Amino acid sequence: MPVRQIKTKIFSVGAIDWDRRIFDELIPLPDGTSYNSYLIIGSEKTALIDTVDPMKEDELVQNLKNAKIEKLDYIIANHAEQDHSGTIPKILGLFPDAKVITNEKCKGFLEEFLLIPDEKFIAISDGETLSLGDKTLKFILTPWVHWPETMVTYLVEDKILFSCDFFGSHLATSSMYAKGNETLLDGAKRYYAEIMMPFRTAVRKDIEKVSQLDIDLIAPSHGPIYKNPAFIIDAYEEWTSDDVKNEVVIPYVSMHGSTEKMVLHFVDALIERGIAVKPFNIPKSDIGEIAMSLVDTATVVIATPMVLAGAHPAAVYAAFLTNALRPKLKFVSMLGSFAWGGMFVEQIKGLLSNIKPEIIEPVIIKGYPKKDDFAKIEKLADKILEKHNSIFSA
Ligand code: FEO
Repeated sequence: MPVRQIKTKIFSVGAIDWDRRIFDELIPLPDGTSYNSYLIIGSEKTALIDTVDPMKEDELVQNLKNAKIEKLDYIIANHAEQDHSGTIPKILGLFPDAKVITNEKCKGFLEEFLLIPDEKFIAISDGETLSLGDKTLKFILTPWVHWPETMVTYLVEDKILFSCDFFGSHLATSSMYAKGNETLLDGAKRYYAEIMMPFRTAVRKDIEKVSQLDIDLIAPSHGPIYKNPAFIIDAYEEWTSDDVKNEVVIPYVSMHGSTEKMVLHFVDALIERGIAVKPFNIPKSDIGEIAMSLVDTATVVIATPMVLAGAHPAAVYAAFLTNALRPKLKFVSMLGSFAWGGMFVEQIKGLLSNIKPEIIEPVIIKGYPKKDDFAKIEKLADKILEKHNSIFSA
């Protein structure tokens, strides 16, 4: 990515990773990503806000050369994870007099992970400011978006919030600014779902904190810059609220077609009752899509056949993932089929200890579904409608 000016003496100098397709060996990146790094040239001091993933360190170094930076005073580390801080040692090698500015917790992580010595740091606390001459940086601690040490940096005179992962999206695009379209909103929602949803309560407090600021631009460290901060702040407020949608998410797996037949009947039954439904054939699904669907659904129904004397491992994975992501859902049920025993209900329930949903009586059948079984599925759809009506009319 070339050096791009955002405002006078404020530049984007990071890298676009068009090809990256997985993060943390877990999270799919269908649209690639970017590692945004920002250069602020004050009348007296120069600061770099976040670096890039070490895979792209050459691009950052080249951009700093292209920007004709001869002296760097500060490297602001908003977050210790490698995609933002992994290139700090390289930059310190090029600018040995630079100091790393971050909070105590992040400093500890950077000492542990990157072996940066203590004397390279200046630790700041919540609300502290740092003058670059005619520009002032203010640091705001925003824990749990998505690590305990995460913080954001606010450029006071230009009203820019450098939010790091907060409000970001894994989206490789040549547009520096967000267009506010559906692709971007989906990308941001997917990102929130994958890493921030488990910390929803803390994120809500962080939103309140940054909302006190007078913000013209939100410049995250992944994805485009927001010229309309309300676009993403409003979306985050909705995602982190306690509100759920009249919707059922169905992660399912089927080996010989019985469970799938049940799921397809169930999907139609829900649609007939006016309930939105999102089925996911787990082995064929992008887990980011499943995570995103969990952000505001009222109900999850996990569907599995019995295999190896329990739930299919794909269904176990879906239950484990749901539990880890801690969505605000209210109800859980199950569909399943077996040949000689259906011993997976307690197993799946046991995997949901973080979220403690109300369990609606599952429908577990023997063999291929028959007339009576379809009637039970219809009853489950009725029960879910009743439960949804109880919360939406309350
Ligand atoms: Fe983009 Fe938590 O790293």
